[in-house]
Amino acid sequence: MSKTDSNAANDKSATSNTNNTSDTSLSGGTRTGRAAIVTGGTRGLGAAITLALRDAGHNVAAVYHSNDAAAAAFEDRHRVPVFKWDVGDFAACAEGIARVERRIGPVDILVNNAGITRDGALHKMTPEQWWEVIQTNLGSMFNMTRGVIEGMRTRGHGRIVNISSINGRKGQAGQTNYAAAKAGILGFTKALALENARKGITVNAVAPGYCDTEMVAAVAPDVLQAIVAGIPVGRLGTPDEVARTVAFLADDRAGFITGATIDVNGGQYLS
Ligand SMILES: NC(=O)c1ccc[n+]([C@@H]2O[C@H](COP(=O)([O-])OP(=O)(O)OC[C@H]3O[C@@H](n4cnc5c(N)ncnc54)[C@H](OP(=O)(O)O)[C@@H]3O)[C@@H](O)[C@H]2O)c1
Repeated sequence: MSKTDSNAANDKSATSNTNNTSDTSLSGGTRTGRAAIVTGGTRGLGAAITLALRDAGHNVAAVYHSNDAAAAAFEDRHRVPVFKWDVGDFAACAEGIARVERRIGPVDILVNNAGITRDGALHKMTPEQWWEVIQTNLGSMFNMTRGVIEGMRTRGHGRIVNISSINGRKGQAGQTNYAAAKAGILGFTKALALENARKGITVNAVAPGYCDTEMVAAVAPDVLQAIVAGIPVGRLGTPDEVARTVAFLADDRAGFITGATIDVNGGQYLS
């Protein structure tokens, strides 16, 4: 990519709030000075979360894995620094977090959003399909959180938001790997919330339903039609609706909410 996290000329983008005119979110708010990391923050729900946190006044770094073109376009358009590493790799996370902290300061807000699907019925699933999803979607919770939690505890403040899924709540045929990882995130969230409740750190999960992203666009049209028919509000969610929920939980004033899971699914879990 033409612009990378190592490009010091872009450092100003971490604190700049000069929005591209095509941004639809709020702008010009008071800077909080808090540093935030959003994994998978350059596309889909993560991109919306990155922008919502930036517009809430935080200094945000967006992490991605392999889509250099999308990351470069995101950085160019929104002036948010992007960083490339694999959240499934513990050493890469430690090294990446150190790079982010040199650039924007100690991380006070972590959004563990990066996730993948490798769908298939269990009787046909390969070990690679299983472990890739577990490592990326659940292993990343440990890898990323381990790298920031001690600093948060020392400073007495932290906000961690983990992105689960409706399919971790209710199960989904063809997604034993994904549902296991997303359900595991909920246990991780509650245990970590208890460990850090006296340290000014909140740990919460957001469980989106089906939203209008590339991940969902990959679903077969007939399957998607059936999914939408089962959503009481009658439509897919928007990335912005998930992002605003995350920004709410990341706010300094959300300190009494911890260990919670917030469903953002148009009522689908009820139907
Ligand atoms: N979309 C939905 O309707 C929906 C519903 C429920 C839950 N979710 C959850 O919401 C999260 C975001 O979903 P999405 O639909 O926005 O996904 P997406 O559009 O496919 O974007 C995924 C993002 O995660 C990054 N990523 C993937 N693997 C990574 C890795 N190993 N290391 C670092 N970054 C990695 C990708 O980087 P690259 O750009 O480099 O590939 C990309 O930025 C996921 O956890 C997903 O399970 C989504």
